[in-house]
Amino acid sequence: MSKLETVGLTKSFSGLVAVKDVSFHMDEGEILGIIGPNGAGKTTFIHLVSGILMPTSGSITFKGRDITYAPAHVRSRIGIARTYQLIHPLENLKVIENVMVGAVFSKDKSLKAARKSAEAICAELELDGLNRDTTQLSILEIKKMEIARALANEPEVLFLDEVMAGLNSDETKQVIATVQRIARERKMAVGVVEHVMGVIRELTERVIVLEAGELIAEGPYETVSKDPRVVEAYLGGAA
Ligand SMILES: Nc1ncnc2c1ncn2[C@@H]1O[C@H](COP(=O)(O)OP(=O)(O)OP(=O)(O)O)[C@@H](O)[C@H]1O
Ligand SMILES: [Mg+2]
Repeated sequence: MSKLETVGLTKSFSGLVAVKDVSFHMDEGEILGIIGPNGAGKTTFIHLVSGILMPTSGSITFKGRDITYAPAHVRSRIGIARTYQLIHPLENLKVIENVMVGAVFSKDKSLKAARKSAEAICAELELDGLNRDTTQLSILEIKKMEIARALANEPEVLFLDEVMAGLNSDETKQVIATVQRIARERKMAVGVVEHVMGVIRELTERVIVLEAGELIAEGPYETVSKDPRVVEAYLGGAA
């Protein structure tokens, strides 16, 4: 059974169909690439499966359970976590508290237990200086904090929405290795949205390609990247 599955998932914004009839699945331990030009619907798709937005039609199941209209807090409680393309650290909280938020709200942990697990996750991600204000963090540290916050939910399915954006190549390599390790060790299914194709090639076994809300191709990156519809989608976007 797939961890997460959608059938015919569709989201319209007053006339604009941002996600159109998308059927997909993600399996345990799989790192799936979600690619497509700007405005293809990638972030909207993640909003739909994480419960930030409700679909116009179609269905979403998590381990066989229908969660199509389940609220976001329920999805995060049962094991779906995500990072945000537009990062939003809680600036009046310290780094450690930002990470604890996930554990406190979605796992009902005591503050003490949440702090302990947040510290362990930050150590795993090599994120130090946990009593700093978030305004003191580098971009790499902010990205690590976002990943740590998502991991504090103890997810089975994790979506990373352009988590490498803004990182240099050494930092990107570091985050790629981290994502591979956490996915393997936790047997998590990870959905990765990235515009840098080197990252997708390195990190994913399978990709889905969205264009104007539609899933136009699926398969290993090496195959999909040669698909004429995919080439056209990217060239069309660049023209
Ligand atoms: N809340 C909204 N209201 C109206 N239109 C929206 C809303 N959110 C997204 N859209 C539109 O839906 C389409 C898909 O947007 P989305 O952000 O999902 O694309 P994306 O693939 O994540 O793009 P990018 O690569 O630039 O992040 C775009 O045309 C966008 O303008
Ligand atoms: Mg996006």
